[in-house]
Amino acid sequence: MNDPRIIVALDFPEPAAALDFSARLDSALCRVKVGKELFTSAGPQLVEKLMKQGFDVFLDLKFHDIPNTVAAACSAAASLGVWMINVHALGGSKMLLAARHAVEGKKTRLIAVTLLTSLNQDDLRELGITDAPETLVRRLALLAQHCGLEGVVCSALEAADLRKMTGKDFWLVTPGIRSANDNRDDQARIATPAIAVRNGASHLVIGRPITRSSDPLKALQQFNNEISAAL
Ligand code: C5P
Repeated sequence: MNDPRIIVALDFPEPAAALDFSARLDSALCRVKVGKELFTSAGPQLVEKLMKQGFDVFLDLKFHDIPNTVAAACSAAASLGVWMINVHALGGSKMLLAARHAVEGKKTRLIAVTLLTSLNQDDLRELGITDAPETLVRRLALLAQHCGLEGVVCSALEAADLRKMTGKDFWLVTPGIRSANDNRDDQARIATPAIAVRNGASHLVIGRPITRSSDPLKALQQFNNEISAAL
């Protein structure tokens, strides 16, 4: 079965640009991610069009609300037929379990965001949380696993630690991926594809190094080659 590890982040403001771009990719080589901006402007129709182009869609809406509301949102997302959705682990176990029950028996996979990488120790203290960020990430990943979720989003640098704790089958989906010569953009903690998969990443989210490339398909192929060489 075709099971690409790369998920291309379609961070475009409107649907025409996203669809023109995705038509230049190959669904055998990647999946695609639709986030809050694009989904808010383009809605389910865009998701359907991407699926018609043959892509598995990761709908990255990071649901976080009371359990009943999150379950209903997950159920609606799963009805679109998307490959994967996500929720915030900080919503707690009752919310995570409700989300999982909502997708049970459906083909849609469910993962959790542990802690947003934009939050540092000072931000946590401001929220009354005294744990170090990495301690909280570990706890939230284990909570997501305990609640039966498929995996978590984490940085490639956290993946090695989480892989040891969660065993081999838990999905670790890692953004912040750059090849040695790529622009870092606004990413502070980056890893190459080789480091990410060696650290145990199961899937790699890659945006600008592919979306801003003059030859996106070639960039995608190069990333896939780097992954294959590292495995
Ligand atoms: O362009 P770039 O490769 O930096 O895009 C990374 C994608 O992963 C973006 O869609 C970004 O929102 C997402 N992401 C991230 N860091 C996280 C979670 C998600 O960069 N911690």
